[in-house]
Amino acid sequence: MNRRASDARPPEGATPGSSLSSDVPEARLVSFGGVPHRLRPLTLADADRLIAFFQSHNEETVRLRYGYFFREMTPSRARQLVGVDQHKDLALGIFSTGADGTEVIDAIGRYCLMEDGKAAEMAFIVRESKRRLGMAQTLLHALMDIARKRGLNELVAQVQRENRGMIALFQQAGASSRSVLGADAVDIRLPLHPSAT
Ligand SMILES: CC(C)(COP(=O)(O)OP(=O)(O)OC[C@H]1O[C@@H](n2cnc3c(N)ncnc32)[C@H](O)[C@@H]1OP(=O)(O)O)[C@@H](O)C(=O)NCCC(=O)NCCS
Repeated sequence: MNRRASDARPPEGATPGSSLSSDVPEARLVSFGGVPHRLRPLTLADADRLIAFFQSHNEETVRLRYGYFFREMTPSRARQLVGVDQHKDLALGIFSTGADGTEVIDAIGRYCLMEDGKAAEMAFIVRESKRRLGMAQTLLHALMDIARKRGLNELVAQVQRENRGMIALFQQAGASSRSVLGADAVDIRLPLHPSAT
């Protein structure tokens, strides 16, 4: 569908190859709902944008993403979430342009490397007013591509059983799902080299 068509032009002001190594994706333009957005790694400079994004969430969104509800995204927590080591973990954002011309976060997809160095746990969140435009799917495929390049074997997640949208999206990408005994949750495993297993 056109609403998900993307192009690979670097956005204005992007400086390809100037800051992060080749295994960290560069900023690129992607169109959602016919509107150009930027997809790029989060940086420490995004902490205030993350707080503003958090303030847009309703309780259900917070609970589904973080596993419990909390009211405030503190500056220190925001800095932790945007200031990850992008060469080991990965935190990608989709940004639009706000009324004042500055960037606004519309979606985040991230993974955190697990101890064995071969798997990573992923999480996604999309602005309520920008759902079903393909943002989470685009972020998932971007995470999968980079995880493969880094030699990971699988991406995993634990998702609440009621979160049918997230589970459907993972399954469409090739994930298996299994109920967690004694919890209202589902374990997701997404192999990155399915033909090798
Ligand atoms: C789950 C979530 C990330 C999906 O984001 P999204 O950008 O709306 O998803 P996409 O547009 O990429 O959806 C891709 C496909 O996944 C499936 N899907 C996504 N959301 C769905 C929903 N609510 N119901 C049913 N299917 C859904 C559909 O097959 C969809 O394709 P379609 O729109 O062509 O039918 C978003 O709803 C969200 O932020 N939820 C709250 C936080 C959360 O649950 N995080 C997950 C923790 S790991």
